[in-house]
Amino acid sequence: MFGLAQCRGLTFRMANNTKQWHRVADLNSLPDNRVRTVTAGTQQICLVNHEGALTALDNRCAHQGGPLGEGQLEDGWVICPWHAYQYDPVTGKAPEGFEDRVDPYPIEIRQNGIFVGVEPATHQATLADQVVTVMTDWGVNVVFGMVGHSNLGLADAMRRAESDGRLRYYGIRHEGAAAFAASAYAKLTGKTAACFAIAGPGATNMITGMWDANVDNVPLLALVGQVNTQIMGPGTFQEVDLHSALKPVTRWQQVVLGSQNASDLMALAIKHAEVEHGPTALIFPDEMQHLPAREPQPETPRVGRVPLVTIAPPKDELQRALELLNAAKRPTIVCGQGAAGFKDDVLRFAEKITAPVVTTFKAKGLVPDSHPLACGVLGRSGIPVASTMMGTADLLITFGTSFSVHTGIAEYIPTIQVDRDRMTLGKFHPVEVPLWGDIGVTIEQLLADEHLAPQARPRLREEISTRWGKWRKEKERRRAEQPTTGLNSASIFEALGNLAPADAIIAVDVGNNTYSFGRYFECKEQTILMSGYLGSIGFGFPAAMGAWSAGTGRKVIAVAGDGGFGQYLAEFTTAVRYSMPITLVLLNNSQLGKISKEFEADHMEVWQTDLTNPDFAAYAKLCGGDGIRVTAPEQIEDALKKGLNSDKPFIVEILTDPLLI
Ligand code: FES
Repeated sequence: MFGLAQCRGLTFRMANNTKQWHRVADLNSLPDNRVRTVTAGTQQICLVNHEGALTALDNRCAHQGGPLGEGQLEDGWVICPWHAYQYDPVTGKAPEGFEDRVDPYPIEIRQNGIFVGVEPATHQATLADQVVTVMTDWGVNVVFGMVGHSNLGLADAMRRAESDGRLRYYGIRHEGAAAFAASAYAKLTGKTAACFAIAGPGATNMITGMWDANVDNVPLLALVGQVNTQIMGPGTFQEVDLHSALKPVTRWQQVVLGSQNASDLMALAIKHAEVEHGPTALIFPDEMQHLPAREPQPETPRVGRVPLVTIAPPKDELQRALELLNAAKRPTIVCGQGAAGFKDDVLRFAEKITAPVVTTFKAKGLVPDSHPLACGVLGRSGIPVASTMMGTADLLITFGTSFSVHTGIAEYIPTIQVDRDRMTLGKFHPVEVPLWGDIGVTIEQLLADEHLAPQARPRLREEISTRWGKWRKEKERRRAEQPTTGLNSASIFEALGNLAPADAIIAVDVGNNTYSFGRYFECKEQTILMSGYLGSIGFGFPAAMGAWSAGTGRKVIAVAGDGGFGQYLAEFTTAVRYSMPITLVLLNNSQLGKISKEFEADHMEVWQTDLTNPDFAAYAKLCGGDGIRVTAPEQIEDALKKGLNSDKPFIVEILTDPLLI
């Protein structure tokens, strides 16, 4: 089967044991006097047809790496498309008087195509391999990102880590979605995920999602490429001063400028994210990613570098809190996002003193609404059960709340505030007892103290039950309203509450759809994810992707409006690509409904809030997922059942009335 290659000027023995031969093109596929880029293994080749004779050259121009296969043949020379360097098509040499050359490769014409022989690729470990290994060793093994110019060295290291089973990589369509997904992953799991982008626009696209993690205090690791150090400074193509751009949104960040401490910088980036509960960033100039690995590989174990911290409240303050608790007649517990993970502790405490439990919207679902002491959500997305029980309390015990104006925790009621962040204690106004401690530890100590008097308060329990009865009647009345256009939100979230799995993860967006969800959806054991303090439009669907990637096995649902989902519409194809069976409940009122209301509330004309939308259900099908459009109340239940049971990404598009929220 082996013979001599039929190529002008050069003759190659075909039985060459050191070469691997790759089929690079069909016979006769390259016209006379043309060049083309082809790939042999991982090697890019400039395939040349010079007056019927085929030759192969290294595709990278010796000047600045221009792709010769995208150039042309002129007067018998291969011309680089970038700055017109010339090379002989056979030898790869430049014209007389110039030193530059590119390597020629052996070529064979076989019956089934054109073959090029290249040395078998042997991988020399790179600095990027080392830092990715540190990242996965430290437990960061989920990455959302977009590969591109200036991050390919890191991308190649991640590819190897993925093929070894050390990380899972999700290629998104917009870097903003990568950062939202990583933030949501941390909100759900408490663990760090990475988002990954190129220099310049890729990095700046991630800033909104990073800011979401920043203000909601969850860890996130941003990995970004940067232009070569050789050309950093004057403002070259895609050069953004990332060190300055990312500084306000990160707890810590560094540019990797050599192999000396690159591994340790990765370890520190993760440590800062986890210890300081926020985003960090590592910026990699392009050429750093291709440096050879440092020998020997530096030791960067996690063990011994991230201490466990449990903060016990000071004894005197605890005693003052106990006195107030024992004297209170109507204490009410207010849980914020900081209490996530302490559901059982909070309920044990509430049961012992018989205190109603209300939550902020960010903490919706922290206690099930079916619990006899649960009173739902406070504030703008809240319900009257919560606001009344808080408003009539004589003592508030707050766990992990930030006293946002959207929640409206009463400042006039004496308060015991428990938080692990000292700056949050008494941040906006003085409280009776600012109790610095972990929520679990503090509750444990309160319960263990013999001075805490148990309370039965049967009339309070009865009152909670009566108030729920009134609110459920009101919801029923709202469900019965007949909208003139579209469906009412009360009906949609009643049906979703009945049909969603009890342990589903629900990522919400912002706007009227989310306010209505907060008000009407009654939680069982579901976990709710949202862009809390940033309140960023577009969060819902990318967040659902982040939640799905955590691999909990729980059903993942997204709730969004047409405005929010429209921002990351293309990410539906990401969900299709990775077979994420997310059910999106899309409330389509063809406008930015909440903003319309704000214009009206401010006595202004509504302007530029109407939206031009596709048929979202049809779009879902076009993308390879599934969808259904709901236009009548009697269709809601069947459509939700179909969506929730689908094994594909699914859009339940519901045309809603902008007035009935
Ligand atoms: Fe080819 Fe400059 S890169 S001539």
